[in-house]
Amino acid sequence: MEKASELYSGKAKSVYASEDPDRLVLLFRDDTSAFDGEKTAKLARKGMVNNRFNAFIMQTLESAGVPTHFEALLSDNESLVKRLDMLPIECVVRNITAGSICRRLGVAEGMELEVPTFELFLKNDALHDPMINDYHIRAFGWATDEEVVRMKELTFAVNDVLKRLFADAGLLLVDYKLEFGRFEGRIVLGDEFTPDGCRLWDAGTRKKLDKDRFRQGLGDVVEAYEEVATRLGVRLD
Ligand code: TMP
Ligand code: ASP
Repeated sequence: MEKASELYSGKAKSVYASEDPDRLVLLFRDDTSAFDGEKTAKLARKGMVNNRFNAFIMQTLESAGVPTHFEALLSDNESLVKRLDMLPIECVVRNITAGSICRRLGVAEGMELEVPTFELFLKNDALHDPMINDYHIRAFGWATDEEVVRMKELTFAVNDVLKRLFADAGLLLVDYKLEFGRFEGRIVLGDEFTPDGCRLWDAGTRKKLDKDRFRQGLGDVVEAYEEVATRLGVRLD
């Protein structure tokens, strides 16, 4: 399927129309960014690695009963997805403390949480993705109560599936962010699941194998993504 006009360009992906009005082409670029677009770079192979990694995870989730937008790999850097009506909300689950929860609550990195946390953020770089709760979503009409319940249920279902998948590859799923949209009246997982939007540590050494390598200037960013992909058995060529 040929991609037509560019509809939207984000920090790491671009979105194109396809021949089918209900399907879009996602182009995973080599661009990377952190701190809401403040720090950027181009990292060779990242687009290909993330495209294939995302396809593998989305297919795993779909098989486990989580509805996703993923349809097919089109090329090294492109995937065909359902055209969702995206909600401006980010759902974050944490199993281990890292990142913003450490800053907000003054806790050390690396604490295993008694139970996973669920947090909601508004997708808005200019405002640095402020934390919101279900009352904000209701008050501003960003989603219905039923949709919020469903997003939470699916976000935790993803945790069950992926914690085990990564554990089998010797990895800890520290935290992750999901974005959902509406498709034919249902809530469906959109955006991507890659090391750009989650934290993954080696289970033995706790070496960081995710975008924190870029955020913190640790180097070997794409090499770490490739290591995770290889451990999961994702084909990279
Ligand atoms: P945080 O520690 O910065 O709140 O992020 C938690 C997890 O969610 C981390 O794996 C990064 C991911 N995330 C994004 O990828 N984009 C975002 O805009 C936010 C808020 C989180
Ligand atoms: N806020 C996220 C980060 O710092 C996403 C982004 O800004 O690209 O990685």
